[in-house]
Amino acid sequence: MDQFAKRHNAGGEAEYRPTPQDLIEAKEDFGRNCSTNPTMGDIVNRRFSRRGFLGGSLAVAAIGATVSPLALIAADQARAEGAGAFDFEEIEAGIDETHHVARGYDADILLRWGDKIFADSPDFDPAHQSAESQARLFGYNNDYVGYIPLDGSAEHGLLVVNHEYTNAELMFPGWARIGKMAKDGKEEDAVIKGEYTGELVDIEMAAHGGTVIEIRKVDGKWQPVLDGGMNRRITAMTEMSIAGPAAGHDWMKTAADPTGTRVIGTINNCAGGVTAWGTYLMAEENVNNYFSGEIKEDDPAFKAMKRYGIPGGEYAWGRFHDRFDISKEPNEANRFGWVVEVDPFDPASIPVKHTALGRFKHEGCESIVNKDGRVVVYCGDDERFDYVYKFVSAGAYDPDDRAANMKLLDEGTLHVARFDEDGTMEWLPLVHGQGPLTAENGFASQAEVLIHARLAADLLGATKMDRPEDVQPNPRTGKVYCMLTNNSKRKDEQVNAANPRRKNRFGHIIEITETDMDFASTKSTWDVLLKCGDPSIADVGASFSTATTKNGWFGMPDNCAIDAEGRLWVATDGNNEKDTGRTDGIWAVETEGEGRGTSKLFFRVPVGAEMCGPCFTPDDATFFVAVQHPGDAGLPTVETPATRWPDFQDGMPPRPAVVAITRQGGGRIA
Ligand code: FEO
Ligand code: CA
Ligand code: CA
Ligand code: CA
Repeated sequence: MDQFAKRHNAGGEAEYRPTPQDLIEAKEDFGRNCSTNPTMGDIVNRRFSRRGFLGGSLAVAAIGATVSPLALIAADQARAEGAGAFDFEEIEAGIDETHHVARGYDADILLRWGDKIFADSPDFDPAHQSAESQARLFGYNNDYVGYIPLDGSAEHGLLVVNHEYTNAELMFPGWARIGKMAKDGKEEDAVIKGEYTGELVDIEMAAHGGTVIEIRKVDGKWQPVLDGGMNRRITAMTEMSIAGPAAGHDWMKTAADPTGTRVIGTINNCAGGVTAWGTYLMAEENVNNYFSGEIKEDDPAFKAMKRYGIPGGEYAWGRFHDRFDISKEPNEANRFGWVVEVDPFDPASIPVKHTALGRFKHEGCESIVNKDGRVVVYCGDDERFDYVYKFVSAGAYDPDDRAANMKLLDEGTLHVARFDEDGTMEWLPLVHGQGPLTAENGFASQAEVLIHARLAADLLGATKMDRPEDVQPNPRTGKVYCMLTNNSKRKDEQVNAANPRRKNRFGHIIEITETDMDFASTKSTWDVLLKCGDPSIADVGASFSTATTKNGWFGMPDNCAIDAEGRLWVATDGNNEKDTGRTDGIWAVETEGEGRGTSKLFFRVPVGAEMCGPCFTPDDATFFVAVQHPGDAGLPTVETPATRWPDFQDGMPPRPAVVAITRQGGGRIA
C-alpha cells in the first residue's frame, strides 16, 4: 500500500498505470460492503478472556477429526520425542536483500518463476518470454503451497503451488521505467508503465494459475522430478468444469458456453488447501481486477457487480480477450471467484469450480474431516469489512471411495460467521428460502444465493471483519485460527468485539473454538488470540505476551499453517520499513498454556517480498514457504528492483520462489 501511495498519482508525462497489486490493495482499502448489517457501534469494545473455562489443550487430541492420518501418526511420534513449544533460536527482524532462517536450519530455493516443470520445458529467457514457454515453466508469484504424499511418503510427493498474480513491471525487461509524474503540483519520481500488447497479456495469463510437480528428497535435499508423469501447469487458459447448485444457471451462461458448465481458466489463486482425499483446492481471490468494460446503473446486475468490485479494470486482458470485457460478456465475471478442485494424480483431469462453496474473494480453503465424516471447509473473503465462511458437506468422507469424495464439495451448506459480543458466535446458513434469502430479496434459487453470496451474507447480518485471510482448523484442539490482516478504514463507531481496534493497521488473529470438537457446529465460541503490531507502542494496542522479543512481534497476519503437533505458524503480508521496520516472514505463535501469545521470528523474506504458502510435510521435517514478489519496494522495474533475489545476476529479474526449509542433520522443525 505504501508503494501505491508513492507511485499512484494522476497525470505526469505519460499515463501512469499502477501495478495490479497496487490497485488490488488500494481497492481493499475501503471495502465494498455497504450493507447495514451490524457494525455494532453500540457494542462496547471489550477484550475477552474466557480461556479459563474453555481451557483448550493439546492433550485433547482430535482422533476423529483430521486432515491426514499421516499427520496424526507423525504428531504422535513428535510428542513421544517430547516436543514442546518452539525451540529454535529466533532470528533478528530487519530488512535486506536476502532471506534468513533460524540458525541450524537450511532454507534452499526449490522452484523459481521460470524454472522447468517438465523434462522438455524450454530454458527461461527473461528477455525473450512467450506465453507458450511460460505455460511450460513455473509461474509467477507463488502463493499457496501444498504437499501431497506419494505412497504415504514425507520425502516424495506432489507439490501443488498457486500462482496468484503478475507484476509486469518486474517481469518484462525494458517495459517499465522510472520517470517523473505530477503529484500535488510537484513532480515526483514514479514507475511509468509500458504499453500492453496481446502477447504480453497472454504471457501474464500463462504465468497465473498453479503448478503440480513431483518432488523428492535426495540426500536430505529436495529436488523436482522433471519427468514425473503428474507434473502439470494450470493457467488462465486451462479448461475447467462448473459443478454444484450454480452450474448451468442463466447467470453462468456465455456466448462461448451456452450450458453455463464450462469455463476457461482460473485466476488470482491466492491461498488454497489440500483435501483428505489428496486433491488440491485453489481459491480464486481478487478476480474483479481482471474485468474491464462498463455496466449501466439500470442493469439488473449492477448492484451485485458493484458489491464484487466489477469491473476492477486493472489488467489489460479485456482489451485482447472479449470475455474479460463485461460490456461484451457480462456473465463471464460470474464464472470466477470460486474454489477450484484439481485431481493432481491425473494431469489430464478437468479441474472443477465448486459453486456450493459460494462466490467471493476466497483467500484460502482449508478443509478438515469432521468427527462425523462430513468435510468442513473454511474460507475468508479478503476485503475490508467482508466475512468469514465455512462450508459443511452433505455427504461423508469415505477413505475407500475417492471418486465419491471428489463429489463431496458439490453439495452441502455454506455458512457465514456472526461474532457476538459475549464471545459466542453463530454460523448462519446461506440456504435459499430460509430467512431473508427469498425471491422478494433477489434470490430466486440456491444458485443465486451462491453466485451473490456476499449479498446473501449481508442480509443474514454477518459480522464485517478486518480483511479475513487464511482460516485454519487445528485438528488437535478443535480450534480454528482466522487471520485478519488489517483494516485502516475501520472507524470508531464500527469497532466491535471481534474487530476491536479502529484504524486497524496491523491486524489480529481470532481463535474460534468449535463446540465439542464438532467442526460442523453452528454455534461456537471465539477469542482474540493476538492483536498485532509493536507492543512497545501503547497506542498500537498489541497483545503479544511479555515474553515476545522485539523481533518476535509482527503485523499483518495473512496465511498460516498448523504443524503435526498442532502448533501455529503465521506468514505475514505488508510488513515494511516504514510501518514495522521489518520484512514479512514466518512467526511461530504459541496458542496453549502459559506461553500463549508468545511469538518468535523463524524466517524472513528479502526486501519487497510477501510471505506465503507455509506448508509442512507430514513428518514436520520440511517446511515449504513461498516468497512472493521479491524486490517490489521503492520504484521497482526489472532494471531497478529492490533486490535481485534469489539469483543476484544482472539481467535476471528478481524471482518469486518456493523455499524448502530443513534442519541441518535432519529432524523436525522445532
Ligand atoms: Fe491474496 Fe488475501 O491476499
Ligand atoms: Ca493455511
Ligand atoms: Ca497474501
Ligand atoms: Ca494478504
